[in-house]
Amino acid sequence: MAQKQNNQQENPLFQKVVAHAKEYGFVFQSSEVYDGLQAVYDYGQIGAQLKNNLKQIWWKAMTQVNENIVGIDAAIFMHPLVWKASGHVDNFSDPMIDNKDSKKRYRVDHLIEEKAEILKTEGKIQEAEAILNAMNRLLQEENYVGLYELIINEKITCSVSNTSNWTEVRQFNLMFSTEMGAVAGESNTIYLRPETAQGIFVNFLNVQKTGRMKIPFGIAQIGKAFRNEIVAKQFIFRMREFEQMEMQYFVRPHTEKDAYNCWKEKRMNFLRALGLPAEKLRFHDHIKLAHYANAAVDIEYEFPFGFKELEGVHSRTDFDLTEHQKLSKTKMIYFDEEIEEKEKQRYVPYVVETSIGADRLFLAILCNAYTETTGIDAKGEQKSRLYLKLHPAIAPVKVAVFPLIKKDGLPEKAREVFEELRYDFETIYEERGAIGKNYTRMDMIGTPFCVTIDHETLNDNAVTVRFRDTTEQVRIPITALKALIAKEVSLKNIFEKL
Ligand code: GAP
Repeated sequence: MAQKQNNQQENPLFQKVVAHAKEYGFVFQSSEVYDGLQAVYDYGQIGAQLKNNLKQIWWKAMTQVNENIVGIDAAIFMHPLVWKASGHVDNFSDPMIDNKDSKKRYRVDHLIEEKAEILKTEGKIQEAEAILNAMNRLLQEENYVGLYELIINEKITCSVSNTSNWTEVRQFNLMFSTEMGAVAGESNTIYLRPETAQGIFVNFLNVQKTGRMKIPFGIAQIGKAFRNEIVAKQFIFRMREFEQMEMQYFVRPHTEKDAYNCWKEKRMNFLRALGLPAEKLRFHDHIKLAHYANAAVDIEYEFPFGFKELEGVHSRTDFDLTEHQKLSKTKMIYFDEEIEEKEKQRYVPYVVETSIGADRLFLAILCNAYTETTGIDAKGEQKSRLYLKLHPAIAPVKVAVFPLIKKDGLPEKAREVFEELRYDFETIYEERGAIGKNYTRMDMIGTPFCVTIDHETLNDNAVTVRFRDTTEQVRIPITALKALIAKEVSLKNIFEKL
């Protein structure tokens, strides 16, 4: 079970981000005092605030910005047949292989992809591509004998034991199961949901009818999902308990391609509006489609360990609603009064889904914000600086208030300013320590504004505002503070770019 938080990535920048996340109260390893629980993490006092901000912005970008999207909050536990209908019981598995010497289990595709990466770094590009092509072909086959042979023939070894003493390749379902009620047994087995989407599908008619929703319309949800990921690495990138932010957009059959293209662009714009640079984001079309999709794309972000999936946009056809209709024996039919031809008025809607992990977005935002600069200070000496360049609307703390010294009535005045701000913005008051150190501490958590109260303030009711990114300082009246901060942290700055 044990795995220390930061021994999982060789990339030096990523190691620094992981260490920073722990040092400044963003993310802790779960059950750390017991040496940790692999691929499970807790958010600390600053991280929880940042994650909440991201979730709130996503929620509002869906439900407030779009008049035809509403939000729900479905339960984690669902009827076991839900997962039969969705295909997760039969299909939500990965081919795995165990090394008999180290007892370590690997996802077969990851093992082969790692080998291809090594070949690429050795300049053997064609060999690398040949292995990947062979893998993609063999993954489609009924049994996995071919994949096993590929691993053996390519002399792929376990990174722990260095041997190629492998078991055969087997399928492992990624769903966690537990028992509901007092009696254990197969009939009581239920699953921890591996995606939030199914809570939306089974509530499609409830929401449509009670909300008098007209197609096209969307249902959004944020919630926990659970997957027994075999390869658990890269910090919070791949977790066993994580949070998804998903939206299902219900459309008329055969209009799904337009909706799909539209949501691809909208989601890309959203990520850019949060401050992720265009050159670090790209689309990656799925070649091998999931059982439910007729088109799918990943939006990938360039993490310090490479371009990886951040969000998925999937055209899920009418698969899920049709399957639920079959197993639940409940009609999932929408009556479209805007269609004139009678025989086309009743249909099972098609669905375009957008799905992003809140934790993965958090990680992308944190990696992107981590900024190291070097410059020349007032004494002409070279000085390096570290800060989190977070969009002010996302920043966990918006403003910090400090008295210059802890006497002469300055703390009292500073608290007055703090009281003035704290109900509108996440605000910190600090009277301990030197101003310079307090500025640095605020830089580390990405606080965009620091306000200092000095002796002059008592006479002129003006304060010094220090800006995080430029370290520039300006003096402004206390009465102008709120408007200055409100303008910068407003969600409108993000929403008007969508
Ligand atoms: N409903 C569709 C669905 O669940 P997915 O591609 O399996 O699709 C969607 O997951 C998103 O959820 C991913 O793009 C990723 O951001 C996030 N995600 C998936 N598995 C994750 C994990 N083990 N840890 C953290 N985030 C994960």
